[in-house]
Amino acid sequence: MSKIESKKALITGGASGIGKLMGLQLLQKGLATLVIWDVNETLLQSTALEFKKMGYDVYIYLVDVMNTTQVINTAALVKKEVGKIDILINNAGIVVGKYFIDHTHEDIDKTMGINSNALMHITREFLGDMMQTKQGHIVNIASAAGMVSNPKLSVYVASKFAVIGWSDSLRLEMEKEKTNVKITTVTPFYISTGMFDGVKSSIIPIVKPQNAVNKIIRGIENDRLYVRMPGIVNWVYFVKGILPARWFDTIVGKWFGMHATMNEFKGRH
Ligand SMILES: NC(=O)c1ccc[n+]([C@@H]2O[C@H](COP(=O)([O-])OP(=O)(O)OC[C@H]3O[C@@H](n4cnc5c(N)ncnc54)[C@H](O)[C@@H]3O)[C@@H](O)[C@H]2O)c1
Repeated sequence: MSKIESKKALITGGASGIGKLMGLQLLQKGLATLVIWDVNETLLQSTALEFKKMGYDVYIYLVDVMNTTQVINTAALVKKEVGKIDILINNAGIVVGKYFIDHTHEDIDKTMGINSNALMHITREFLGDMMQTKQGHIVNIASAAGMVSNPKLSVYVASKFAVIGWSDSLRLEMEKEKTNVKITTVTPFYISTGMFDGVKSSIIPIVKPQNAVNKIIRGIENDRLYVRMPGIVNWVYFVKGILPARWFDTIVGKWFGMHATMNEFKGRH
């Protein structure tokens, strides 16, 4: 049975970037209904219009995923208006992109709230139905920044390390209790969506949004535990495990240029 055809999916941050492209690809693969949550009303409306013009069934909800009350209320509304969600893609995310000392307290709370806590609160709202029906798939968009530390990304890195740890523990719980709910943890290197505008990478290639999306959707279809991209990201834990920290810093940070990638970061403003 197709994992996507005739199913209902919810994507947070689905009004732009890879979230929007994932929604479109799911619809093209026969998804029955797409639910988009986003904080950007203009993009939300234009995406809905674009997809509806193509003949697709799309529901949009203006939600700030950092606001847990909004999350709980909107989840209840979705269950009433759309029904059970089969595929939940926790995708909304932000980056501040400066030295830790330059972060305001609000920067810290927002990054952790949107990139880490929200995924858990949203999942908490939809997981019960999935467990009860023994059918569902949750995709958590972390980042390769959740596997390696990097200057000018400290809080973002913290938020993505948290996602990987939580997401994979949730997978183990689902497997231990034989719930049949699948969990996929996604860790891409930089993707050229605009979120990381200005970033430069000399050796490791920046991922094209469509390639990232193709891999994530294949990951859903094949019940992959992890989706990492580009391929070199698959080696991170191994290389980190065998090299002394200073060697890892030198090889990955200096020779591969990782520690300089954020030097000219502009991001979305
Ligand atoms: N772009 C990259 O280089 C890259 C690399 C690795 C991982 N990621 C992760 O992939 C995900 C998507 O990134 P993208 O590049 O498509 O970014 P993007 O900026 O294009 O899209 C993010 C979307 O999330 C929405 N959003 C932001 N804050 C929100 C909030 N509080 N509530 C609801 N919606 C909110 C935005 O409005 C936007 O539509 C993020 O979690 C990001 O951390 C991105």
